[in-house]
Amino acid sequence: MTAPLSKAFVLFGATGDLAKRMIWPSLYHMDRDGLLPDDCRLYGAAREKTDSEGLRQIVRTAVETFVGKEFLEEAALQRFALRINFVRVDATKAEDFKALAEALGEHAERALYYFATAPALYGAACQGLASAGLAARAGGVMLEKPIGKDLASSIRINDAVAAIFEERRIFRVDHYLGKEAVQNLLALRFANTIFEPLWNNRSIEHVQITIAETVGVEGRWSYYNTSGALRDMVQNHLLQLLCLVAMEPPAAFDAESVRNEKIKVLRSLRPISGGFVLQRTVAGQYRAGVSQGVSVGGYAEDGEGESDTETFVAIRADIDNWRWAGVPFFLRTGKRMTDRRTEIVVRFRPVPHNIFGHGAGATQNVLRIQLQPQETVELEIIAKEPGLSGARLRPVRLDLSLTRAFQGRRRIAYERLILDALKGDTTLFLRRDEIEAAWAWVDEISSGWAKAGERPKPYPSGSWGPSAAIALIERAGFSWAE
Ligand code: BG6
Repeated sequence: MTAPLSKAFVLFGATGDLAKRMIWPSLYHMDRDGLLPDDCRLYGAAREKTDSEGLRQIVRTAVETFVGKEFLEEAALQRFALRINFVRVDATKAEDFKALAEALGEHAERALYYFATAPALYGAACQGLASAGLAARAGGVMLEKPIGKDLASSIRINDAVAAIFEERRIFRVDHYLGKEAVQNLLALRFANTIFEPLWNNRSIEHVQITIAETVGVEGRWSYYNTSGALRDMVQNHLLQLLCLVAMEPPAAFDAESVRNEKIKVLRSLRPISGGFVLQRTVAGQYRAGVSQGVSVGGYAEDGEGESDTETFVAIRADIDNWRWAGVPFFLRTGKRMTDRRTEIVVRFRPVPHNIFGHGAGATQNVLRIQLQPQETVELEIIAKEPGLSGARLRPVRLDLSLTRAFQGRRRIAYERLILDALKGDTTLFLRRDEIEAAWAWVDEISSGWAKAGERPKPYPSGSWGPSAAIALIERAGFSWAE
């Protein structure tokens, strides 16, 4: 039996950037689509000096800015506004949580608390909830990434939260898992029989996973500059995609089954340490260039001057288990790249013996799964070109557009995640061991860079990253699919 939805959602950091761009717009859509119970209340908590009317104005502006015009309806906006209340909370002040408890009243029962604040405050906020008697009655806490900046700091934060909440009430967000296209990877792998027999080192030569963005740091320099692409994208989104591509079939689509399989992948990742760091990883930083037809400045001009923070990372990862031994996974992410594109490219092995002769052309199939901006699945099939001059082989594409097949609005990833957390379902959230295993792997790379005095290699905005990233994949005898 599924538990009833929580009746209160409390958003810490209610006036921050993430809240405005993603969380309030998601809640608006959910409300408009009838997914929130009639008596569900939304509380914004922040240090700001405002009141409920002030917050409603901030939320209205955010919704009008970030929700597509076709979904804006005055009646829906007004009804949504009525759900919203403001409570002034400084997460470090216990007395503020008393005021929060008063404001919530009976809605504190199974309330869901979302921390979209600096992660250093998560522990204090949990303590505050406990001291006001709110934690014991809560449905749970949603924690936005990043949880720490390395393994040690993530353990500290996880310990502080675990002192108050048991694991099943902790919802660690990686918004990629809320994306339809990402969940569809599981359907592709585990609801079709045709891929599984080939999904291993006997048939697959190598895999590429790319998350490329065209944007720069866009006013987030002060956060980003302490993080960089390795912590901002690889530790979470890229490694989660890798897990979904590489994991064994879980016995069921439930929290423990799915997460038990993901953690096995993370634990099978070969550590990249010592001399291997410079062979298997590349860090880059964007310089001035032309992005989407517009001249743009470099990372230093976008922020506060010279810095050694990487805005691009490429990695050769190896998974040491029976299924994947000998199959390199090339991971790549960067800002200010040529295109915005999240995709997984699976390249199969060539035929064992080419009866048409080597000069005839390619004999390798490629499966390309694009998750963003379009949702497409393409399979390159090798065919004979028409003509009389012998067998000339060429790849042709079977291409399926999921965007066309399933029309209609794609939900914001946070809609799915908030709804699942309101229901108490942790399947699409990260378990503590996953976060810590991912940090342990990533920490070796960052400390390897530090030891080697490695500085990010420059690349022009609007390119596919530094040439060293091309060399990285070429050393294995392959090239990036572009
Ligand atoms: C966030 C990162 O987690 O993901 C950002 O902090 C990045 O730097 C963003 O831009 C990318 O998300 P999406 O959904 O646009 O692919």
